[in-house]
Amino acid sequence: MELTETLLDRTVLITGGGTGIGRTTAQRFAAEGAQVLVVGRTAERLAETADGHPGIRTFVADVTLPDAPAAIVAAALDILGRIDVLVNNAAITRPAPLEAIDRKVAEQELATNLLGPVFLAQHALPHLEAGGVIVNITSNSPHQGWPGNSVYGSTKVALDFLTRTWAVELAQRGIRVVSVAPGVTETPVMTHAGFTDEQLAEMGQGFRDRIPLGRLARPEEIAWWIVNVARPEAGYLNGTVVRVDGGLSAAG
Ligand SMILES: NC(=O)c1ccc[n+]([C@@H]2O[C@H](COP(=O)([O-])OP(=O)(O)OC[C@H]3O[C@@H](n4cnc5c(N)ncnc54)[C@H](OP(=O)(O)O)[C@@H]3O)[C@@H](O)[C@H]2O)c1
Repeated sequence: MELTETLLDRTVLITGGGTGIGRTTAQRFAAEGAQVLVVGRTAERLAETADGHPGIRTFVADVTLPDAPAAIVAAALDILGRIDVLVNNAAITRPAPLEAIDRKVAEQELATNLLGPVFLAQHALPHLEAGGVIVNITSNSPHQGWPGNSVYGSTKVALDFLTRTWAVELAQRGIRVVSVAPGVTETPVMTHAGFTDEQLAEMGQGFRDRIPLGRLARPEEIAWWIVNVARPEAGYLNGTVVRVDGGLSAAG
């Protein structure tokens, strides 16, 4: 079977599709013939993702709002007709050491990174058929602490736990659940967190020194895995975390 044929007309719902990994993933799915709906809070960013890609449609929504999961699923069914793949990608990171954690900011991280995927998956579930896939985009290993970013790191470790648990709950229905856990990737995520270019340059060098491959990931190198875990050929992959981090977690 030609790999490129298996995603033809698959329907894919991606949150956080207006920038970074979500954008690249949407464009890669679309390039393989999938029908994609990207969701985010900023219409202009979503429009840039869809520009020149007729297979990508857009829907503006904030995944933290209680009505959002129902609205997003309704839009997906209206625009795509059905949902084959859900990619829970939208997330925010707001680094802070323990003494500086702000309650409202922490609640926003939890609402976006953890509760967003819980309730979107819950609302999508009645519409996922056998062969459906939920891909959760996570991050850090559960085995190491992350000084200065404990709340974000907790949301991502918790999301990996949801992946493992839902994989068991949903396996009999033929629905697979997989995490893709990127390493440090060249996206605007830290700009969105409020860091300056100088701070980013310093942080980037710090990461390059620690990553065995000596460089950050390109978004395409993460998107490739997200697309490929969703393929029918990956049908025996379930309840696992695909870690794509240039060896960072292996180095400790
Ligand atoms: N880049 C990295 O180094 C890295 C490493 C490990 C894991 N990851 C994970 O990879 C995923 C993608 O991150 P990225 O690096 O591509 O960052 P990004 O460019 O900041 O993408 C995150 C996207 O989520 C959207 N978003 C944020 N809050 C939202 C909300 N409440 N409702 C709907 N959409 C929302 C943002 O768009 P709007 O603001 O327009 O809504 C943005 O397009 C995230 O899950 C992140 O945790 C990234």
